[in-house]
Amino acid sequence: MNKMLGYRCSLCSQEYGPNEVQYTCPKDGGNLDVILDTEAIHRSLGPAGLPMIEEPSLWRYLPLLPVQDPGGLDTPLRAAGWTPIFSPPRLKQELGLPHLWIKDESRNPTASFKDRASAVVIARARQIGAEVVVTASTGNAGAALAGMAAAVGQKAVIFAPRAAPPAKIAQLLIFGAQVILVDGVYDDAFDLTIQASQEFGWYCRNTGYNPFTAEGKKTAALEIWEWFTCHVASLTCPTFNDRRYVGQGADLSKLNIFVSVGDGNIISGIHKGFRDLHALGWIQGLPRIYGVQAEGSAAIANTFYTGDENIIPVQANTLADSISVDLPRDGVRAVRAARQTGGSYLLVSDAEILQAIAALGKVGIFAEPAGATAYAGLQKAVARGQITADDLVLVLNTGSGLKDVRAAMQAAPEAPVIEPRLEAVKNLLGRK
Ligand SMILES: Cc1ncc(COP(=O)(O)O)c(C=O)c1O
Repeated sequence: MNKMLGYRCSLCSQEYGPNEVQYTCPKDGGNLDVILDTEAIHRSLGPAGLPMIEEPSLWRYLPLLPVQDPGGLDTPLRAAGWTPIFSPPRLKQELGLPHLWIKDESRNPTASFKDRASAVVIARARQIGAEVVVTASTGNAGAALAGMAAAVGQKAVIFAPRAAPPAKIAQLLIFGAQVILVDGVYDDAFDLTIQASQEFGWYCRNTGYNPFTAEGKKTAALEIWEWFTCHVASLTCPTFNDRRYVGQGADLSKLNIFVSVGDGNIISGIHKGFRDLHALGWIQGLPRIYGVQAEGSAAIANTFYTGDENIIPVQANTLADSISVDLPRDGVRAVRAARQTGGSYLLVSDAEILQAIAALGKVGIFAEPAGATAYAGLQKAVARGQITADDLVLVLNTGSGLKDVRAAMQAAPEAPVIEPRLEAVKNLLGRK
């Protein structure tokens, strides 16, 4: 089944056929939304069909993705997505939120949310017979592309800022990608990658620029929908007793989702997922989506608050390297994700991000700074009374703390060093 009708420009709404364009709108450079053939999907599959698919990965949503099955069975490509959702009692108590969940994206194969986009872009690359896939990355998108490419033997080239955390660079290298470190910031790497892809005919995965990145990221929304309608509905619906409950026009408007934002492609991908479900008639209301940015990298939040769609670049400066972006590449759609769902944007300081890393760590969730940013935003929303005990809240942790141990050490208490004697332990603990 061909599930894709074509593309629609997010700025001018011009539509294109599936083979007319590859990346952005030729008229105004706007990012393109993939238009799904909802009627064909309706005919072949109802909402209850999806939960019957056994595959415990994002590939269970293949019927809603504009790519063919990429193969790669028994490889990490097949393990992207389907991440766990926790509901830690301690955090619920601390925040006074009885209905709080954390979706832990650090459990993806390369330990960040970016595996979702890279897996789907690899599927597209295989479908169009691309020899080389290239991306610019602050680290995670590249690690994800390198890992997914390695899984299926695809060539990958990654441009990353030379100041990216060493763990992320190590991942790129170990996965066997050709790694090119740029003496500049992420934005420099981004522009260079587009030039190189045009020059050498490489397939470019750049976040937002490639329409399939948002399609991969929308799978998180599909998982949240499936989980919400199966699991949370079962809490409130006494007659619920099997997974076929999914899709009875679930009303997700009571749910609030917190997402950290850099380029704005995760948040716009999640919004797209819910928009697709709505277009299919499988949900009634959309969840409210809250974007959280670092104070030092706030271009999208700034636009949200000015009320227009004009994204003005900043000089980014935050320890959360994954969301340190001068000119966000999916800014307009990211502003809309909050505006069109009744959500909002919040800004948090680096100190608040470090404190959020510590808070999540205490319940066994290890987040990198960008991963903990969404939780820091929730803490602020609760303190301001924007979110209260009646609300259903889901926070994404988008990346693992192991990606950036230098930041983690800033968030952690110092460990005492003692001589290797029991006496020293007793002294330390104040025991006789
Ligand atoms: C861990 C993590 N969180 C959040 C983000 C932000 O995603 P986006 O740039 O699509 O807004 C990124 C992007 O690299 C990331 O790696």
